Order: sequence, then C-alpha cells, then structure tokens
Amino acid sequence: MFRILIAAISIACILPGQGAAQDKDFSLKSPKALIDSGFIKFLLPRFSLKTGVLVDVKTAENGEAYFSTSGEGEPVFQGLGNVYSFGLTEGNGPRHKKAQRFVDWLVSDVGKRTIEQFSPNGKQVFTLITTAEKEVEFEGFGGNAALGETLAFTNCGRCHVIGERNKMQGIGSTPSFALLRSLDDWQQRFETFYLRRPHPVIMQIDGITEPFDPAHPPTIHPLTMTETEVLDILTYAHTIQPADLGAALVMHQ
Ligand code: HEC
Repeated sequence: MFRILIAAISIACILPGQGAAQDKDFSLKSPKALIDSGFIKFLLPRFSLKTGVLVDVKTAENGEAYFSTSGEGEPVFQGLGNVYSFGLTEGNGPRHKKAQRFVDWLVSDVGKRTIEQFSPNGKQVFTLITTAEKEVEFEGFGGNAALGETLAFTNCGRCHVIGERNKMQGIGSTPSFALLRSLDDWQQRFETFYLRRPHPVIMQIDGITEPFDPAHPPTIHPLTMTETEVLDILTYAHTIQPADLGAALVMHQ
C-alpha cells in the first residue's frame, strides 16, 4: 500500500513538469521563423532555468507577450532579414506578471548576451538593437522591509548572519547578508537565491519552485514561503548596509 502511495505521489509530481499549456506560467506569441530557426528553443530554457518561469509558445493566438516583425512593441534584435520587437499585451494578472519577468530578463545583460550567443552554425544570427537602450533605475522590490527583516531572521538566519542580532549564529561558511549585499550583482543573487545552491533542496516558494524530488527529500526541515514574503525579504536586503571589507571580493558563481 505504502509503495503504491509513493508511486502515486511521484506521478503527481512528474506530471506538471510535462507541460500541458495551462500549466505554463504565460504564453508567448512568436513568428514562425523564430521558432524554426531554433532560437526560441535556445532562449526559453535559459530564461526558465534562471527564473523558474515556464513559457508556452504559440504562433497564431495572442499570449501575454509577443515577438513581432510588424513594428509593434520595442525593437530588440535583428537578423534573418527582420527586426524583431517585443511587447506585452494588456493585463496585470499573475500571467502578465510572469511575462513581465521575461521582459526584464530579456533586456538584462544576461538576456542580451543570450540573444547574441545564439549561433547554431557557429555564426551569430541576431544582433541587438541598441537605440532602444534605456537606463533603468532600480526602484526597489516594492515589499515591506520591516516584515522582511523578521522573515530574514527566522528563515535565513539559521545559516546566514543577517545582522547584529544573530551575529554569532550563522554557519561559518555561509556568507553574511552584509557581505552578499556588498557584491555588485547582489540584486541578481537575491532575486534568484532560491535557484542557487544550497537553497533548492531546502525551500519551496509557492507557485514558483517545482515540488521537491520525492527521491531526494530535504535533509533538514524545509522552508516554505510565498512570493510576497520573498519580496519582503528582498526589500529588507536592499536596506542592509553592505560590508566594507576594504578589498575586492571574489565570490564563485
Ligand atoms: C540551510 C542553510 C541556509 C538557509 C536556511 C539559507 N541559506 Fe542562503 N546560502 C547558504 C549557503 C551555504 C550559501 C553559499 C552558497 C555558495 O556560496 O555556494 C548561501 C548563499 C546565499 C546567497 C548568495 C547566492 C549566490 O549564489 O551567490 C543568497 C542571495 C542567499 N543565500 C539568500 C538566502 C535567503 C534570502 C535565505 C532565506 C530566505 C537563505 N539564503 C537561507 C545557506 C542557507
């Protein structure tokens, strides 16, 4: 009986990953040429891996986001005889929020580099359109820093030194929040911490992370957080005074 139950749980956990369209986080409409070139297949897994957001691709129906060759949206790159622009359709539901993350990623340094790296026959296919470049001012994460502070001490303070209050309690090899905050790319590291080791095996974020692999259950009491709680923690992290170590820091990726 027990074994049957385990099998049932495993199947239940595997199925969502198989990706029926409605299980994806948002839909992207793409010209067929982009799909046929292999570009979409190249681009999307790199985005999904980074963000945990899964994308359903369509050629005919409208989705929350689109690539277009007819001039709608912001021009992003050119190649294969076309200028490709990108845009979001109207709406602000959860699927649009996920699509917004795709926009943010696409125009980030990593996204741009990914577009340029697409070279199926050893030759770069697309070049970026730089005229559309805008300085995007970082406006914070929009969460509640006070709540985030409490959450950080309870959820992250088990391993990380967060501040004075748990100065002696972090685990030696784990970077303090002040140290992480001093890294140029702290924002990116915090935004994706749940995808970075060792966190994926100990925490779940509702609606974002995949369920734990039943074959490898967490070895310590797992943490479960909502997206809002994570935003609160990120908002708090933004307020932390970066450690001044007086020397360049090298952190492995
Ligand atoms: C079980 C211990 C543990 C818990 C709990 C934990 N972390 Fe970590 N975290 C680590 C370790 C260990 C590292 C260093 C990993 C490395 O350098 O390879 C780390 C690294 C990080 C990094 C840097 C990641 C990178 O790749 O540069 C961030 C950001 C981070 N943690 C945020 C958090 C946040 C936010 C929480 C709470 C919601 C949290 N951590 C909870 C152990 C933990």
